[in-house]
Amino acid sequence: MTEADRLDTLLREHRIFPPDETFRAQANFKDESIYQSAAEDPEHYWAQQAQYLSWQQPFSKILEWEAPHAKWFSDGTLNAAYNAVDRHRETNRKNKAAIIWEGEPGDSKVFTYDMLGREVDKAAHMLRQLGVKKGDRVAIYLPMIPELPIAMLACAKVGAIHTVVFGGFSAASLKDRIVDADAKILITADAGWRRGGLVPLKQNADQAVVDTSVEKVVVVQRVGENAQSSMVEGRDVYWHELIATMPHTPFAPEPMNAEDTLFILYTSGTTGKPKGIVHSTAGYLVGANTSMRSVFDIKDEDVFWCTADIGWITGHTYIVYGPLSAGTTLVMYEGAPDWPNRHRFWEIIEKYGVTIFYTAPTSIRTFMKWGHDIPMGHDLSSLRLMGTVGEPINPEAWMWYHEYVGRGRCPIVDTWWQTETGCAMIAPLPGLLATKPGSATKAVPGISVDVVDENGQSVAPGHGGYLVITKPWPSMLRTVWRDDERFQKTYFGQLPGIYLPGDGAHLDEDQYIWILGRIDDVINVSGHRIGTMEVESALVDHPAVAEAAVIGRAHEVKGQAITAFVTVKEGVSTSDALIAELKQHVVEKIGAMARPEEILFAAELPKTRSAKIMRRLLRDIAEGRALGDTTTLADPSVVEALKSQYQDKE
Ligand code: WT7
Repeated sequence: MTEADRLDTLLREHRIFPPDETFRAQANFKDESIYQSAAEDPEHYWAQQAQYLSWQQPFSKILEWEAPHAKWFSDGTLNAAYNAVDRHRETNRKNKAAIIWEGEPGDSKVFTYDMLGREVDKAAHMLRQLGVKKGDRVAIYLPMIPELPIAMLACAKVGAIHTVVFGGFSAASLKDRIVDADAKILITADAGWRRGGLVPLKQNADQAVVDTSVEKVVVVQRVGENAQSSMVEGRDVYWHELIATMPHTPFAPEPMNAEDTLFILYTSGTTGKPKGIVHSTAGYLVGANTSMRSVFDIKDEDVFWCTADIGWITGHTYIVYGPLSAGTTLVMYEGAPDWPNRHRFWEIIEKYGVTIFYTAPTSIRTFMKWGHDIPMGHDLSSLRLMGTVGEPINPEAWMWYHEYVGRGRCPIVDTWWQTETGCAMIAPLPGLLATKPGSATKAVPGISVDVVDENGQSVAPGHGGYLVITKPWPSMLRTVWRDDERFQKTYFGQLPGIYLPGDGAHLDEDQYIWILGRIDDVINVSGHRIGTMEVESALVDHPAVAEAAVIGRAHEVKGQAITAFVTVKEGVSTSDALIAELKQHVVEKIGAMARPEEILFAAELPKTRSAKIMRRLLRDIAEGRALGDTTTLADPSVVEALKSQYQDKE
């Protein structure tokens, strides 16, 4: 679906699902007036929510705002790992399951809060022994195994800054992130499991750490003998060997200032270089914790399963910091939804009695393709609430989810947010707001959003424009790591003091927000953010390529797919083999998620007379539309040639 088609469908979408009375009666947030009171005094609202955390030294200041720099709760001190784990060990949650982990091959482990606490303490002792101090950066490149949240929490406990790199990234991408963050330690695994095959994490890590600041590589043994990894003497140490020698004594949580950095997470932007998004300790945790209670209506009896990978912000917030800070039992799954077969997700829900399920539209569309008989063959009666995240959900997928997974009983929270926002920003509170399939509804309490035109003026209901966030919020990014100028320019460069997320949105007559997708050169493939420039740089890096233009085109399952238009250097002959080679080159440079769906060779790329590539026209071609305005092209015949070539291909 193109953006225009999508808008058209959405505007014809009139189904509305009011909150269920029984759900509302038991909801954490059941008083409508919270929207109004939080809007009138957001600082008061957030200060109240901050009371759900345990502070070493309570804060007296709430917000200091020198646009675009915010400080929240700045004279308070606390520790994120203490909040996520240890404080529950002092209550009757001590022996409650914290993490129910399911490995891809079928192994599983349960960690109670007390057990998790002991593991985190040992890992914290280990980091300290390796010389990690407050403020040092630790890079983590692990599969979805328990050591991943344990390593993150151990960093938090000693006051180190973690930067988790998704296991699907290549050695080159890992290296870029290690270098930018100046990481001292890398924690990785011998290999990871994926659909029965191996992900060579250690091999990638070996390439990545060459000529970097990394002093020690800690290796978790996930696969063992078959991993085809080797250890470098003096540099590499096995996690289990080191952990076995650690004291069994509690590790005193490092007192952190509210504004101290908790983590850096890299994300794509419009340039070729990923941005290190910096999150604070207190504000981030307040946002994560609050949304667990408001959007996810979390209760002590819940079993919460977010299917994301911890390598993305969704996993940071809704596998690690949100659920654990709320004392939740969470499910963490290592593998793919179709391994060993397409029943795996529904079996996990049955096996552990999952009550809240949070996944991505692209997964839902995949399940739709596999057929509703699959989920319908399972007892999913434990579910009471479901969520989606990562990209706009088409109403058909929403209805399918509602019907065949939720069995018409479960409210759906479509949550709009970003790496930069830290937690869900636009989403229904399930006991309070009626939902409409395809709309993320309204901002959560304490968050002020608007849809504006080019001049920053609010659009009237029934119109579209740019989504903006008009006031600072606790879990907002604080800066871009070592590039504050980029932070200011990217997010606050258009309208002073107003945060620009980079999404287009439509405001309907009920003031509901319909997210239309990115307005910049960022592609959203299966909910993964990829910069067009990153892929273009990867292609141009290949010796055969002269020039490349990359666009995101509509894709039935992935939301968007990457199409690359490539011109080759003189004398290079084009072939299917070269296409395959170029695709592989992108995988090696960035990672498998950036592999172009198709590559087209062009004699020339369509450019304006000022030599700007007209991506809009390339998108028209890839989505089979009539070509838009071509009058500004230097050479209109270029697009006609490309168009007929594209059609031939189909
Ligand atoms: C971009 C942020 C934070 C979650 C994972 C993605 C798109 C995210 C929705 C939604 C429509 C959505 C936006 C946003 N997006 N959630 N519910 N409806 N679009 O995080 O990688 O930082 O990407 O994902 O375009 O800007 P991210």
